Amino acid sequence: MRRLIFFSLILFSNFIYSQNLLFAEPRNPIRAKNGMVVSANELASKVGIQILKRGGNAIDAAVAVGFALAVTYPVAGNIGGGGFMIIHTKDGKSIAIDFREVAPAAATRNMFLDSDGNFLPDLSQVGIKSAGVPGSVSGLLYALKKYGTMKIEDVIQPAINMAEIGFPLPYSTANSIKYTLDDFSQFPSSMKIFSKNGEAYQEGEIFKQPDLAFVLNEIKNFGVDGFYKGKVAELIVDQQNKMGGLITLDDLANYKTIEREVVRGSYNNFEIISMPPSSSGGVALIQLLNILENFSFKENEWGSSNYIHTLVEAMKYVYADRAVHLGDSDFYNVPIDWLTSKAYAKKIADKIKNSATPSDSIFAGSPDSFEGENTTHYSVYDKDGNAVSVTTTINSGYGSKLVVEGAGFLLNNEMDDFSSKPNTPNQFGLIGSEANSIEPGKRMLSSMTPTIVLHNEKPFLILGSPGGSTIITVVLQVILNIIEFNMDIEQAVYSPRIHHQWKPDKLYFEKFGLSKDVIENLKSMGHIIGNERVLGIVEAIMIDQKNKIIFGVTDKRGAGKVEGY
Ligand code: DON
Repeated sequence: MRRLIFFSLILFSNFIYSQNLLFAEPRNPIRAKNGMVVSANELASKVGIQILKRGGNAIDAAVAVGFALAVTYPVAGNIGGGGFMIIHTKDGKSIAIDFREVAPAAATRNMFLDSDGNFLPDLSQVGIKSAGVPGSVSGLLYALKKYGTMKIEDVIQPAINMAEIGFPLPYSTANSIKYTLDDFSQFPSSMKIFSKNGEAYQEGEIFKQPDLAFVLNEIKNFGVDGFYKGKVAELIVDQQNKMGGLITLDDLANYKTIEREVVRGSYNNFEIISMPPSSSGGVALIQLLNILENFSFKENEWGSSNYIHTLVEAMKYVYADRAVHLGDSDFYNVPIDWLTSKAYAKKIADKIKNSATPSDSIFAGSPDSFEGENTTHYSVYDKDGNAVSVTTTINSGYGSKLVVEGAGFLLNNEMDDFSSKPNTPNQFGLIGSEANSIEPGKRMLSSMTPTIVLHNEKPFLILGSPGGSTIITVVLQVILNIIEFNMDIEQAVYSPRIHHQWKPDKLYFEKFGLSKDVIENLKSMGHIIGNERVLGIVEAIMIDQKNKIIFGVTDKRGAGKVEGY
């Protein structure tokens, strides 16, 4: 009998290898037949899967996960921030929903500069003025109304329950709150929520948020108006007035979610759909893939000096373009078609030689000369084939660190994503220019890259990541790992990554990402090696459409959870 099993196994594995499968058979990721939710928090993923099991579609589940994360994952989950949602419906429609924060009407270009013109990062990164007008509640409810099937009460009740009854704090959240207590301590409203009279919460302690439950109930009862008008809006604006903030009742009432055309690209025979401006993510991702399509890598070249060198050179050109050409396309003419064209990518590819080009000698291209921990991502797939990819943020971990008094939620510090002063780096070291200058009502440029990869017009990959400026290169490498190097989804997500963003001229890498001889080779090619750091936290789903299997992976770099059924 044993021998029989043994031989059957051999026969089976030969069968697998002889099938020339589209992608490697995953070893370990969670599998499911019907639906899947992957998010940065276990309770939120469980809420999402319950919605799917009760017959909700992927959009219903995504909205429920969004509200749940606002309760159970306060470092990044939010109602005081903004984000982006990419949907691919079962009928083949692709949709981009932009619920990015906007600058208040009273915002001015130089609001974060002192009288000598020096940039004041403390002002743009912490406290009352760092916050843009939040978009999350508007965006989630927009998606629910237009593409969901359930009522607000069905998708928001789990979040309300967890805020009211509380939940045991997981290790990672208890720790990150503890390490942020110093920052919170400038704001009594934040200490009230995130400490027990000044003392840190411990792992496993029950964390209740009655003020937040009140706000979620207002949203349940009054929809968008429950947040952007009425009692909650008044709480937000009272605090703004008291502390010298700029957000007014009109700013809140005027907030609008915008549905946009997705940006589209292709890599080999895969189609990429991702987020257009006000994120730079989709454009930059497609530009990178277009450039890299001009090179061919063998499977055993992963991690080699040649592969890393080519990635890094492509990244430098793309981030140079980002700094000049990308901003809110409702305010600035972003040349999306040119940036994402194969022809422009070919021109860049032709410039990539065997040695490193110093960032100082790379400049953004010009369309005129062209002939022609903290953000969070979650991915959802349902039994009918709807796919949803959402990245949402309050920018830094715990955003502005400022909780709205009486409302129990944190305001974002997204204003720091604007380019406050040309060529002066923000917290992610990103520089920008006119395209991303502060203007009233404008959306600050993002790097978030919620993405869906299609194969034969059906969802193949749903993925995204936090990580500020590194989000784009993180998503890129996971896609390449799968399509170019035939890794299974778990290996693709777990493998070490590198990052370069043109300025500073430094190649960042993860532990075990670059071996000593590769580092030496890269140095001899002229690359400047930066420090080791963690790059991204990917939450991904891969669908084997032929065999109807859904695979999910939550990044080992985070503490998320895959739920499938
Ligand atoms: O929108 C952006 O690009 C940034 N505000 C994202 C911030 C982020 O990912 C922080 N997480 N580590």
